[in-house]
Amino acid sequence: MKTLTVELADRRYPVHIGRGLLAGAGGCLRECLPGRRAVVVTDDVVAPLYLDALLRALASPPAFDTVVIEIAHGEEHKNLATFERICTRMLECGIGRDGAVVALGGGVVGDLAGFAAAAYQRGVAFAQVPTTLLAQVDSAVGGKTGVNHALGKNMIGAFHQPCCVVSDLDTLDTLPARHYTAGLAEVVKYGLILDASFFDWCGRNLDALLARDEQALTFAIHRSCQIKAAVVADDELERSGRRALLNLGHTFAHAIETGLGHGRWLHGEAVGCGLVLAARLSARLGLMDGAEARRVEGVVGRLGLPVEKPAALDAAAMLQRMSLDKKNLGGRTRLVLMRGPGEAFVSDDTDPAEVTAVLN
Ligand code: NAD
Ligand code: GLY
Repeated sequence: MKTLTVELADRRYPVHIGRGLLAGAGGCLRECLPGRRAVVVTDDVVAPLYLDALLRALASPPAFDTVVIEIAHGEEHKNLATFERICTRMLECGIGRDGAVVALGGGVVGDLAGFAAAAYQRGVAFAQVPTTLLAQVDSAVGGKTGVNHALGKNMIGAFHQPCCVVSDLDTLDTLPARHYTAGLAEVVKYGLILDASFFDWCGRNLDALLARDEQALTFAIHRSCQIKAAVVADDELERSGRRALLNLGHTFAHAIETGLGHGRWLHGEAVGCGLVLAARLSARLGLMDGAEARRVEGVVGRLGLPVEKPAALDAAAMLQRMSLDKKNLGGRTRLVLMRGPGEAFVSDDTDPAEVTAVLN
């Protein structure tokens, strides 16, 4: 097992990464959660696979008194209605402020459960047990929680850090290929944002990653979490602009997801396409070498992720969605662009006509 620490201004928490961790998760959770009542939130795909193992771990002495809340899987359920259902069930079960929420599942479960933990009685403790690649490399770390609105992705939410993250790599064995590949988009993103040599490594190891080679996968998860932990430590609440870098490709991605209807494209698929569009725009603006932009497209394409926006969305509609992005300030669309792999930065003054040209 490898353990990373997310260091925040006033607290820190561990991210455990390794095989066979679910069975011992009780120990980690007992160390970090304040009380002995745990609300396990999971979905109807993950529950039959991993819920028993987690409940057994929580039952080892001193046992947690556990409540299970199972939600329907899929992005289309990451909304206020499901959030309300979780809160209602917690109230019905008499969960108090010493209760804690444990998210068992992918990013949808983690974002929903985390938001319930942030809001329930103004905040209870929370832990993440991510079971998708995307959640292990990205969403379980860093404390962004929330739900979608029909008018925008992740538009309602809160920053609420977990007390710990337990990433059991064994759970990835059952992850369908489409969801696994979607998670690799976020891995590539980390290289593109801040670590050119990690991006190069991804390019050289695509076959191993796609084959779920243990060594390659462990390195990719570990390096992604290291990069994310460092950025979150610098700018926990996304105030300085540093954390906004983690949104490389996401302004395009969120416009695609909302424009098509949440769940039509997977988040990671939209991010893959968004990385390519951000690279093309950066090249068009003369910021990034054209050959480097094509290299980004090559890596994303070889992963089997989309490299063109959906035909069903026209450029004007996407631009309109992008103007609602949370990063925007003073009515101007803020985008994360690149000077090259590993050199992402936030741009406040991109000409919408240039964005339209790339979308066309
Ligand atoms: P997901 O949670 O929908 O999981 C994908 C699918 O895999 C689901 O059907 C789920 O039931 C199933 N599943 C989960 N674990 C499994 C396993 N081990 N074996 C078999 N099936 C399994 O999707 P995701 O890609 O994990 O997360 C996407 C969400 O994460 C999006 O809503 C996105 O906005 C969010 N996100 C949040 C952050 C953040 O910082 N909070 C960062 C990135 C993405
Ligand atoms: N996934 C973006 C962030 O955590 O800030």
